[in-house]
Amino acid sequence: MSAATDAPAGEIAISATGERKAVTASAGTSPSSEWIIVTRGIARNYDMGGEIVRALRGVDIAVMRNEYVAIMGPSGSGKSTLMNMIGCLDTPNEGEYWLNGQLVSTMTDDELARVRNKEIGFVFQTFNLLPRATALANVELPLVYAGVPAAERRERAMEALTRVQLGERVHHKPNELSGGQRQRVAIARALVNRPSILLADEPTGNLDSTTSEEIMRVFEELAQRGQTVIMVTHEPDIASHARRVVVLRDGVVSSDERKEQFVARIAQGGKTH
Ligand SMILES: Nc1ncnc2c1ncn2[C@@H]1O[C@H](COP(=O)(O)OP(=O)(O)OP(=O)(O)O)[C@@H](O)[C@H]1O
Ligand SMILES: [Mg+2]
Repeated sequence: MSAATDAPAGEIAISATGERKAVTASAGTSPSSEWIIVTRGIARNYDMGGEIVRALRGVDIAVMRNEYVAIMGPSGSGKSTLMNMIGCLDTPNEGEYWLNGQLVSTMTDDELARVRNKEIGFVFQTFNLLPRATALANVELPLVYAGVPAAERRERAMEALTRVQLGERVHHKPNELSGGQRQRVAIARALVNRPSILLADEPTGNLDSTTSEEIMRVFEELAQRGQTVIMVTHEPDIASHARRVVVLRDGVVSSDERKEQFVARIAQGGKTH
């Protein structure tokens, strides 16, 4: 059966299981609720004293709830810029961004901050933990900002740390933990607000290969439990843990494949960069 006959008119994207699916009932309207992220032609320029850097030049991506997506591409291709858009840290100069049914691209900074705190958990290459605070206090921090009472904070932080198998290390400070354990604290902190999306920019960039695999197992388990995960990585081995791989080049999507297609293409000498 051709895709044209089994999908209604309007915008089409590839679903988590690889079929073509309608994003909207008709073109130009809000995406249906199974699509957690939809970008339409988003562009981001930086003005460097008269010289314009075009970091994103029209990116169309649609991600379903519960997907696990890796984003690859050469240095400077726009990966972090795109993550900043998806994570509501920044808005595009052009195009639309819909997150969980909300049109984010036209929001004010205050609205953006509110959506970010509710919907997004971030994990960075450099962990970004408070050095003098224990693992527990680091994970409680987003709940302090959210005004959650102390007892509930502690309970939820313990639960998040237990989910990443750090229940035994909650009173350790970052310098009393291994690199992999530090990144697990950062993952617990990202999850404690129960975000709709976990965004990770090079989460294994500072870890050795054994520890990277350990962190990938944590992500795999979260994805299996239904957490939507989007991860930037330079390493094909890390990307192949995701179920879908998007490659950016010069600010546009150059490929968007199921993991199996990506792995087969790489095995035949295809480029990720
Ligand atoms: N704040 C900024 N001001 C000006 N130019 C910027 C800014 N941030 C990014 N850029 C430029 O935009 C382009 C995309 O940068 P971005 O950080 O998104 O790349 P990346 O794919 O994440 O690269 P890497 O793999 O090195 O992290 C680059 O040319 C970069 O120099
Ligand atoms: Mg980057």
